[in-house]
Amino acid sequence: MSQRTLIIIKPDAVRRGLIGKIISRFEEKGFKIMDLKMFSFTRQQAERFYEPHAGKPFFQDLVDFITSGPVVAAILEAHNAVSVVRLMIGPTRSFEAPPGTIRGDFGLGLTENVIHASDSEESFNRESAIVFS
Ligand code: CMP
Repeated sequence: MSQRTLIIIKPDAVRRGLIGKIISRFEEKGFKIMDLKMFSFTRQQAERFYEPHAGKPFFQDLVDFITSGPVVAAILEAHNAVSVVRLMIGPTRSFEAPPGTIRGDFGLGLTENVIHASDSEESFNRESAIVFS
């Protein structure tokens, strides 16, 4: 069954001019782009978005980073969208992400790791309500 997921091209990737390359990968893979927008997270919106990480030692860095410049958010649709997108972006630590994945090809960081994607349908519902409200 067709499923939707949310991706966010993070400020590091937007600053480096990677929007087109990253969106192209999802188009070439066969995803339908159901919604797309560029915006900047407010601090309050970022704290809600990353609420599952509240209290972790890296939480402030995460909020500082995601509010540091514009991002691009997209809702993508395909069969098994959540798991396919997670495979395509690679593991959180870009420096351990295999070549061929988006983080593996475009990043080196941990906090600054190029792209976010929902890790479940529940996360998608929660996150997309915050981003596309
Ligand atoms: P993402 O999976 O998009 O959402 C949570 C983010 O927290 C993750 O990307 C990283 O950017 C960041 N993150 C996770 N673990 C750490 C960590 N140990 N130190 C710093 N940032 C982290």
